[in-house]
Order: sequence, then C-alpha cells, then structure tokens
Amino acid sequence: MNMDKSVNIPEDETKRQFYFMEKCKEWLDCERQKLGRPLRMSVQTLGCQMNARDSEKITAVLEQIGYENTEEKAADLVLYNTCTVRENANLKVYGRLGYLKKQKEKNPHMKIILCGCMMQEETVIEKIKKSYRFVDLIFGTHNIYKLAELLYTQICSETLTIDVWKEADQIVENLPSERKYFFKAGVNIMYGCNNFCSYCIVPYVRGRERSRKLQDILAEIRKLASEGVVEIMLLGQNVNSYGKGEEGYPSFASLLKETEKIEGIRRIRFMTSHPKDLSEELIEVLKNSKKICSHLHLPMQSGSTKVLAAMNRKYTREQYLTLVRKIKEAVPEISLTTDIIVGFPGETEADFEETLSLAEEVCFDGAYTFIYSRRTGTPAADMKEQVPEEVKKERFHKLLKVTQHVTRMAMEKKIGQTVTALAEEINEKDDRWVSCRLSGNAIVHCEGDATVTGQFIEVKLTENKGFYYMGEIVPHNA
Ligand code: 5AD
Ligand code: SF4
Repeated sequence: MNMDKSVNIPEDETKRQFYFMEKCKEWLDCERQKLGRPLRMSVQTLGCQMNARDSEKITAVLEQIGYENTEEKAADLVLYNTCTVRENANLKVYGRLGYLKKQKEKNPHMKIILCGCMMQEETVIEKIKKSYRFVDLIFGTHNIYKLAELLYTQICSETLTIDVWKEADQIVENLPSERKYFFKAGVNIMYGCNNFCSYCIVPYVRGRERSRKLQDILAEIRKLASEGVVEIMLLGQNVNSYGKGEEGYPSFASLLKETEKIEGIRRIRFMTSHPKDLSEELIEVLKNSKKICSHLHLPMQSGSTKVLAAMNRKYTREQYLTLVRKIKEAVPEISLTTDIIVGFPGETEADFEETLSLAEEVCFDGAYTFIYSRRTGTPAADMKEQVPEEVKKERFHKLLKVTQHVTRMAMEKKIGQTVTALAEEINEKDDRWVSCRLSGNAIVHCEGDATVTGQFIEVKLTENKGFYYMGEIVPHNA
C-alpha cells in the first residue's frame, strides 16, 4: 500500500493524528472484510504508573482506529509498552518476543509493536534489528502522540519501522484517552526528570522535565469530574518540581490547591515526590486539605548518608528523618511508603545496616525494595566497587524481612477502626469479594458485589494480612 501524499495533511498536530487515525481505520475496514471478523489488539504494560497512563492513551488511539481488546494469544496486534529501570524488565521483553515469534509464524498478518523506555536505548534497537526482525513498529517515549501516523507509515511500507527521538518536541493535548476505571484516573502533570540519580536510567530515556500548563491540567480534571471521576492521581517522575524553571507556572502546592477546588473530585493523590524538593508549602497544603489522601510515597533509596551522596540524592539520612518528622507532625495519620535499593556500588555492611535501621525508624506503611541493577550509561554502572550478586541477594532478603515486619506493625494500628474506602473492583478469582482502597492507599478486601464499585463505603478493618486488610462493609444505618 502506498501513502497518498497528494492530499493536504493537517498541520495542527492533534488534527494531524486524527487524520491518520482515519487513514488507519480505512485500512482496518478492508482487513476486517478480508478476514470476515473484527481485528483485535492486546496492549501490555510493563513498568510504572506513567507507563500505565501512556498505555491508556495508546489503547484509546487503537480503539479509535477500530481495534477491539482481547487477550494476547488471540490478538492481531500486540503492543508492549516497555520499562528499562532494571535489567530484569529488558530480559522479560526479550523472553516475550521469543514467544511472539512463534505466534507470528502461525499468524503472519499479526503486528508486533514495541514502545516505551526500553526503546530509547540504542543497544536495544540494534539487538532488535539484528535478532528480532519480525517486529513491525518501534517508537520511544517522546513520540507516543504520533502512534496513528507511525502505524499508518508501517502499514504502507510493510517493513520494520523505527522512530525513536532523543528528546520531546512538544506536549500534544486533546488526543483520545481511555480510562481503566470509570471513577478514578491518572493525570500527567509533568514528564521527564532532571535529577540524574546516579543509578537511574529514567532521565536518559524520558528526557528533561517538562510541565503541562496549569489550565490544561485543570481542564482535564474538570472534564474527568464531569464524567463521574471522584479520585485523581497527579503523575510525574518528580511532582514536587512541577513548573520549576518555567515562567508563569505555579508551584506544585498551588496546583494542588487549585485541584482541590474542583467540584466532584473527592480524593487527590500524587506520585512521585523527591524528598529534596518537598516544600514547607506542600506540607502546609497536606495539613489543611480535605481532599488530598493521607498517603505520601517518599523514596528513601538508602539509609546511609555516604551511599545517598554517591547516589546523587542530595539529602542526608538526617535530612530525610527530619522531613519525615515534620510531615508526621503536620499530618499524624499519614501513610508513608518508600522505595529502597540494596547493593548500590560501594555499599558496605555498615551502610546496609543503616538502611535497615532507617526503615525501622520510619516504620513505613509500605516499601518497594529493589536489588541494584547496573544500567549502561548511568554513572553508577562505571563505579568500581560493584557489590557481588550473592551479597546483593542476601541483603535483599534481609531487607525484605525487615520491611515486611515494619509494614505489618504500621498496619496493625488501624485494626478495629471503621474507615472510608473507595470500592475499586470485584476480585478476579472470587466474585464475592470486592477490593477497596483506603485514603492511605492500603487495600481492604470485603464481602460485597459489583453494585458498590466506584462508591465510597465505610469499612471496618478486621484482619491484618501483612500488606493488605480484610474487612467488613458497615451499612449506612449501622
Ligand atoms: N536498580 C535498582 N532499582 C532502581 N530504581 C531505579 N533505578 C534502579 C536501578 N538501576 C528504583 C528506585 C526508584 C524506583 C522507581 O526504581 O528505587 O525509586
Ligand atoms: Fe530516577 Fe532519581 Fe529521576 Fe526518580 S528522581 S526518576 S530515581 S533520576
């Protein structure tokens, strides 16, 4: 198929992409007639909340084109939105590609698309070009908005199409967007990261910080509220530096205050906060807010000031603790969760002990724990004193024991309380159970049915399961 270049393609980027969605749709209609059935897709997300949000946008564009959702083994189009934060994430993708190769041999018209953070790495692209030629389309993190145009280019050329940009050119608004839940939604407020923590590949694959305009963010939230969304999660790699370095942008704390004014929104969350940028103003807003959830994800990464310096985190153990104290003083009921890395280059047994003791001291309500993964191109990858694998694993298991114990203790405090929870979904394995989320972000499973999903309910917390609760719904008139 040849691309028709004789027509005028709209210049405005949003209109341009809608134009290409129409072109893809025309092609898809022909395919549908040939096959005598609709074409189906499976969009798979690896990685963080930002990727999950990107996948909602991707899904919406593909739905607009006419694809229907299905499971991977029945799909005519499989898209992997990849992560590359740790080596394991990359290995998983190569493993899946091995499986997809066989699927494609059985079903040659199948399209395989790869996008996301892993595709921003040159070594990955080289490897795919060499060993995985059956892939149809690759794009990166900066040109997701071009999906329809890229897909159409691939359809016309029928060869492996690769378009990965080193940096973003613009933020394109008003493209289609899907939502996994009708009552809650993620809203990007900024993209990229300027922090260059020495272990982290994100600044290289997601580029420099770019904030969306306040009015665009608020307009999106107002629209979501008008559609019945009650809970929103403001998303960014480092939300605390929202608007920094851009003229006329408010602080993140002011953005929260503006968001709070929007009628219909009853819960506000945000993710992720870098401790070094968490302002007094923000603590004040958290203290006075009626809508901001009592949850803060505050990655500590390590409890050793020496390791934190080598990580380029720009705070000490003491500064982290002081910040935690201030936050807990202002909002005593707040749930704190964190990210911790073990086995960073140069981490000694004594440094590791400091990580354990900081985790115990803060008594986190939840912790994501990671074994340090060497990422090519980051400063830490070239540091001399890499910690041997066995030592890293041993430390990881020790840390896990401590964090699990600490989380259980933190959760225990709420047992017996009746709290407000947002009912999210029916348990996939047993439809007599409904999963609900507390303001502090913990999950409680209660007996219930689909009629409560999307509603705020009162729940008595009866049992502590270590990282979630069991509970009972308390009727309104009880
Ligand atoms: N190795 C291990 N964990 C990492 N993270 C980021 N980069 C690495 C790495 N190279 C962790 C950090 C971060 C979380 C999202 O992933 O803890 O906060
Ligand atoms: Fe990575 Fe640090 Fe940026 Fe977080 S703040 S994305 S850990 S560089």
